[in-house]
Amino acid sequence: MITYNEPIRTIKLDTPHTSYVLGIRDGGFLLNLYYGRRLPDDDLWSLSNRLPSASFSPSDPEYTDFSTDVAPMEYPTDGRGDFRVSALSVRGADGDSVTDLRYVSHRVFPGKPDMPGLPHLYADRDSQCETLEVTMRDPRTAVEAVLVYTVFEDCDAIAKHVRITNRGGQTVKLECALSSCVDLPSMGYDLITLWGRHAKERQFERRPLAHGLQGIRSKRGSSSHNHNPFAALASTGATETTGEVYGFNFVYSGNFTITAEVDHNAATRIVVGIDPAGFEWTLAPGETFITPEAVHVFSAEGIGGMSRAFHRCYGEHLIRGRWKEEKRPLLINSWEAAFFDFDTDKLISFAERAKELGIEMLVMDDGWFGKRDNDKSSLGDWFVNEKKLDLGRLIDSVHSMGLKFGIWYEPEMISPDSELYRAHPDWCVHVSGLAPSIARHQYVLDVSRPDVRENVYGQMREVLCRYPVDYLKWDFNRNLSEAGSALLPAERSGEFFHRFVLGTYEMQDRLTRDFPDLLLENCSGGGGRFDPGMLYYSPQIWASDNTDPIERLNIQFGTSLCYPASTMGAHVSACRRTGYRTKGDVALWGTFGYELDPNDLTDEERGIIKEQVAEYHKFWDLIRRGSLYRLICPWDNDFVSAWSFVSEDRKEALVTLVRMRRQEETLLRLKLQGLDPDAVYTAEGTGGRCSGALLMYAGLDLTGEAWDDGESCKIHLVAE
Ligand code: GLA
Repeated sequence: MITYNEPIRTIKLDTPHTSYVLGIRDGGFLLNLYYGRRLPDDDLWSLSNRLPSASFSPSDPEYTDFSTDVAPMEYPTDGRGDFRVSALSVRGADGDSVTDLRYVSHRVFPGKPDMPGLPHLYADRDSQCETLEVTMRDPRTAVEAVLVYTVFEDCDAIAKHVRITNRGGQTVKLECALSSCVDLPSMGYDLITLWGRHAKERQFERRPLAHGLQGIRSKRGSSSHNHNPFAALASTGATETTGEVYGFNFVYSGNFTITAEVDHNAATRIVVGIDPAGFEWTLAPGETFITPEAVHVFSAEGIGGMSRAFHRCYGEHLIRGRWKEEKRPLLINSWEAAFFDFDTDKLISFAERAKELGIEMLVMDDGWFGKRDNDKSSLGDWFVNEKKLDLGRLIDSVHSMGLKFGIWYEPEMISPDSELYRAHPDWCVHVSGLAPSIARHQYVLDVSRPDVRENVYGQMREVLCRYPVDYLKWDFNRNLSEAGSALLPAERSGEFFHRFVLGTYEMQDRLTRDFPDLLLENCSGGGGRFDPGMLYYSPQIWASDNTDPIERLNIQFGTSLCYPASTMGAHVSACRRTGYRTKGDVALWGTFGYELDPNDLTDEERGIIKEQVAEYHKFWDLIRRGSLYRLICPWDNDFVSAWSFVSEDRKEALVTLVRMRRQEETLLRLKLQGLDPDAVYTAEGTGGRCSGALLMYAGLDLTGEAWDDGESCKIHLVAE
């Protein structure tokens, strides 16, 4: 609900458990008065504007009792007395970047405006959400910024973006156009972020805020393995279950910044948006720039509460299409089983063995096109390598066994050794006078160009129209360098990175519209583009090339800070670190599948896999729709990790524990969360009965279970 209190000029945005309050001050300064636990409506006046004194801080000559330098500014700008990190910087016709936005008007309406070309949260019905638009204007540059906020009825999320229009007669340049700013009146927070690298994505890191700047960014052209576009501010001492936590996630797959700044008053500003480094956007008279969207959640129930708020929000308002609700086919992927070394018969043999195990889909990974037998050639040549493969026969055989069929693509890349490159050398991302850098023997294809997109998407479409493909894995295996496009004029070169991301979105949009039944899985050398932008197009993303189940714990726990279980591509592979049971228990958390040669399995392994397949079906609903509780996180404990899924009605729970390292102690009481304290739960298998209260307050006794290195156990609890 969004309400305007005219006498005190506040606008209040309420979600079920949170409030966000804006204040309009004399002079049209828009303030960020409050964000946190839900507030009543009647005493908001007491939030208003007592500001600390500000010696040395400049003021507007008409409002000398006010300085933007110390006020909680809702959308701070450059050059007008606020010396902290700003959200908007416009270089006007006079050549300076002084920008001064003032409130003009606002309106509230049901539903959510579209964001053409950009991924965003959505609501199925206008009655599910409400939107506030605040129009701000800089009289000098004639730039108008409409701040757009949407609140959802059914989850504690607020989505923000900004629509910036040049209402003047002269061209201006946006040098910084961020999506969101939140100013909090304290520095008593820890900044939580997810760092990583290839095969070690989304590692949890927590550090106390200090005066000055701290944060994360990507300049790699994609959201990247190295920092996920997510951050949380957790009040000092907040735990998984207690304390106030703010979560920020950027619905974008390119360069980003999330920066927190603590000022001399110990107040914290956090901003989210496209990284201003390397960004510049020309706005001719009448043109509009729309920033990507930032999602904000707040929880008074610790880090776990924040995660569950994101999970609910993304499950309902980000993931789209047929596969939002439908059970995803349990797949086997050829990559770790065969790498580039396969032919039609080998893949048919995978499908035959997989069928015996109950697996539902065969995915043919890299190596089926052009003349690709290793990673040195053929990206861009998206036609079947007929010397290696009879794709029609393969798909017919797979389908006649009752299995689905999936295929791999890397559409935004081009090998120098390809027909496409030989025909169009200027189609790769490059700048004049320099040979482009190479990574994994490949260049990046300039998908900011419509003609390039048309060619590559046209090639994909031809294959997908000719062959009945059920699933597509969309990969992206390098970072961008020498970021330039042969088509962009010099004065617009700062637009390249964003135009590249928009090009990717356009192709994924066409793909999902043209083939609405296709299950799309994004990927980027594992989880290098695991972000909400990609989730808008594909309901699942391959979480990491690292399939070692112990290493996967950190990756999956980290990923779960803001992304739901149903989005995490997780497979059992042949890696030797643990037995098949643990591998299956860990992969069951995600979308679940296999990445191994099914011809190489022992009878015992085949038996275990059949049981896992049955468990996948049995627990799909609970894992997909249930609430995740991280019970023991690998960043808090070197020996065990544990998590559970609890059904919405709290009648069912699946608890999983993994022993990462053997520990010379005997007692292990695992305190569960999210159960009904008054219900009595029975453990499937053992028949043990305990109240929810005992399981949560005293703990589930797991002494002696999963005792050795790399062992795991699962307990399925059902309420009577
Ligand atoms: C990336 C992916 C892998 C596989 C290879 C193929 O690394 O993450 O799963 O598809 O590319 O080249």
